[in-house]
Amino acid sequence: APSSDYQAESAKITQGAVESNHAGYTGTGFVNYDNVTGSSVEFTVNAASAGPASLDFRYANGTTTDRPMSIAVNGTAVAGSLSFPGTTDWTTWQEIKVNATLKAGANTVTATSTTANGGPNLDRLRV
Ligand code: GCU
Ligand code: CA
Ligand code: CA
Repeated sequence: APSSDYQAESAKITQGAVESNHAGYTGTGFVNYDNVTGSSVEFTVNAASAGPASLDFRYANGTTTDRPMSIAVNGTAVAGSLSFPGTTDWTTWQEIKVNATLKAGANTVTATSTTANGGPNLDRLRV
């Protein structure tokens, strides 16, 4: 199936802010996760049919320290600690992918920071 893009700035944000001060994002901005454990972004992803999907997160991390996040689909973890390593600077955006199984219709995909540094800056989810 063709991929769909879900902008982080349009998702449900818990402990984070929509910002646009670092160039190179898509859509209208990105989410700056609060630098605390447990900050999160929840996307609602529609799937035409049930089955495997690649979840591609586009992010920037202008530090040299990993910003791992747990990834859950419909409340069940698919990655306990997905690595979001440094991208050199806050205007360099890269993709990290994880495989998951979706159900037909609406699915929630939640990306939650697992360290006190918070998550990276998150641009979008492509499914
Ligand atoms: C800087 C940067 C933010 C980023 C933050 C961080 O303040 O401008 O976009 O989110 O660092 O370290 O998380
Ligand atoms: Ca931040
Ligand atoms: Ca975006």
